[in-house]
Amino acid sequence: MSTKQTCPERKPLSTISQNKSHQTHSHQMKVIETISEMRSMRRQLATPVGFVPTMGYLHEGHLALIQRARAENASLVVSIFVNPAQFDPQEDFSSYPRNPQRDLAMLAAEQNDVVFMPSVMEIYPSGFNSWVEVGQVTERLEGASRPGHFRGVTTIVAKLFDIVQPTRAYFGQKDAQQTIVVKKMVADLAMDLEIVTVPTVRKPDGLAVSSRNAYLNLEERPAATVLYRALCLARQLWLQGEKDAGNIRRQMTALIQKESRATTDYVSMADPETLEEFDTVKPPALASLAVQIGKVRLIDNVVLE
Ligand code: PAJ
Repeated sequence: MSTKQTCPERKPLSTISQNKSHQTHSHQMKVIETISEMRSMRRQLATPVGFVPTMGYLHEGHLALIQRARAENASLVVSIFVNPAQFDPQEDFSSYPRNPQRDLAMLAAEQNDVVFMPSVMEIYPSGFNSWVEVGQVTERLEGASRPGHFRGVTTIVAKLFDIVQPTRAYFGQKDAQQTIVVKKMVADLAMDLEIVTVPTVRKPDGLAVSSRNAYLNLEERPAATVLYRALCLARQLWLQGEKDAGNIRRQMTALIQKESRATTDYVSMADPETLEEFDTVKPPALASLAVQIGKVRLIDNVVLE
């Protein structure tokens, strides 16, 4: 049976307006590398200030956040910082893709006001030793597979929030657990800003857009759609009345196993706030998974409600 009709909604790329022109003579974009300059620039910005933190190598997923933030705020700040603290020692910090010139051209075309691009030493000077750590929701899923990852994310995000002082910050549903962890940090520490979640941008075949997709070879690229196919299956089963979360997880895992290039890291049907695994599915439910395609680890999710 086809899973097409019951697939999670996806946003076709064509609906995202792409400003092809890099001619932005009428629009001045500031590129700032130090914390002190960023703070004094912030005092001059019209409010509300929208903020999109990124690690650069911008793609259509980032652009969805940037366009939403541009539309909802008087000023827009985008940060580009590949954060060493959120990579495992064995992970890909040094080989993480970077292309600042291309990023800056894309940001200028989006009428961005300020790019904050600090160096690693500016953010983590020698002797740096303070960390922001959120409990519980960081222990499962990505947190279980990547120890220390979320401590790195919350530390950099808290530091960026304090420097940029945004009215609103924009995060992608693609990294569902990251967004949940950041919201928990903001609530627990009473940080004075709003977190906005933006829907996942997908390729026409359903693959969630990610900088890691660039590492997939010609055979792996079609195999990578197995993540979305497994999420479609979860949605279809749930729509057909399946409430047994274990059964849904088993059928998703079986589907992934049929793809020879894919290895399941985890498959989850969990409460979208606490990330506790369901025995019996009670909507809203977060169906999420991490799958290794060849050497490339990919994640994706849909909310069932
Ligand atoms: P990065 O991977 O560059 O992602 C920046 C933002 O873009 C995140 O909020 C992410 O969820 C969002 N994003 C990525 N792909 C997306 C897609 N296909 N659809 C919608 N949104 C998408 O996430 C990080 O950087 C870092 O952890 C960061 C928050 C910047 C802290 O270092």
